[in-house]
Amino acid sequence: MQTLTVGLEERSYPIHIGTGLLANEELLSAYLPGKRAAIVTNITVAPLYLARLRETLHKLGVQSVEIILQDGEVYKTTETLQLIYDALLTHRCERSTPLIALGGGVIGDMTGFAAASYLRGVPFIQIPTTLLSQVDSSVGGKTGINHPLGKNMIGAFYQPQLVLADISTLNTLPDTELSAGLAEVIKYGLIRDLPFLEWLELNMDKLLARDIEALQYAVLRSCQNKAEVVARDERESGERALLNLGHTFGHAIESGMGYGNWLHGEAVAAGTMMAADLSQRLGWISEQDVDRIRNLFVRARLPVIAPDLGVEKYLNYMGHDKKVEGGKLRFVLLKSMGEAELVSNVPSELLLQTLEACVVQGKHE
Ligand code: NAD
Ligand code: GLY
Repeated sequence: MQTLTVGLEERSYPIHIGTGLLANEELLSAYLPGKRAAIVTNITVAPLYLARLRETLHKLGVQSVEIILQDGEVYKTTETLQLIYDALLTHRCERSTPLIALGGGVIGDMTGFAAASYLRGVPFIQIPTTLLSQVDSSVGGKTGINHPLGKNMIGAFYQPQLVLADISTLNTLPDTELSAGLAEVIKYGLIRDLPFLEWLELNMDKLLARDIEALQYAVLRSCQNKAEVVARDERESGERALLNLGHTFGHAIESGMGYGNWLHGEAVAAGTMMAADLSQRLGWISEQDVDRIRNLFVRARLPVIAPDLGVEKYLNYMGHDKKVEGGKLRFVLLKSMGEAELVSNVPSELLLQTLEACVVQGKHE
């Protein structure tokens, strides 16, 4: 097992990365001082991992209140959040009762927001079980739900007290979800860690074959990158925005196609190709660089061509992105390989060229 710390002074917390962590009483004991904890999970993850976690809690003398939600991005809504509050109130969970998120990013984001808001804040533990949630969403304290007008539009910054990334849980993850997680892993290489990008190019086949050592290294290195950025800019007043490479386009794809039809990581991959195209049009990276990025996504079995929503829909959905400031669209673009920049003055003709060039040519209203 390897351990990192997210350095946020009195709100600092450890990320433990390894195998068999769900059954490790020692790691959890300090965070479960009371007699109860509420586990929030979903109908897919519960049959796989809930019993193991419940048993670990029982060994510590902790009873679990179990909240099992529907599975999917379409359920990341106020209605589902209400179900969490209903269960917490029905079971009379108190301000000291920790909420444990057991699942992927959807469960983690919703549980985190419930923890931030229930009784004005209760302790929160992340046990991410997808690659995407282990390398990204469980770390850094962004929590929230979707609104029909935009993804993750309602939420709060609320840090967990502990993150347990149990790599063994990745064995049951569908291939498409593994690839979706790899999109965020590749992102770290592109925006700030060129040696890691090179490592990914060498080790992509091992990652796809779920080699435990390779996966653990990829999770560790990703979390190191994320922890460094979050420690410097927790509330995204600057550097943290760079973690959103490909996300302005990606959110438009996710929203425009209907939540859940494109996985978040898939939308990020196609969105990153659009960001790379725009970076190249600005003369920052070369055509060879764009090809290099495309090759890596293709090897990770990710889409590199975006759906044709039509230029207007793209602009409309991007207008709802959280990176809009003063009515101006802002994009994370690649200054060079391994270096990103937040840009707000992209010439509109270049943006239109990218929107035309990077989508599947097809029908749209
Ligand atoms: P997800 O939570 O929908 O999980 C993907 C699928 O895998 C689901 O069907 C889930 O039930 C299933 N699953 C989870 N663990 C499993 C396991 N071990 N074995 C088998 N199946 C398993 O998707 P995700 O990719 O983990 O997360 C995407 C969400 O994360 C999006 O809502 C996105 O907005 C959010 N996100 C948040 C942040 C953040 O900083 N908070 C960052 C990136 C993404
Ligand atoms: N996933 C982007 C962030 O946490 O800031």
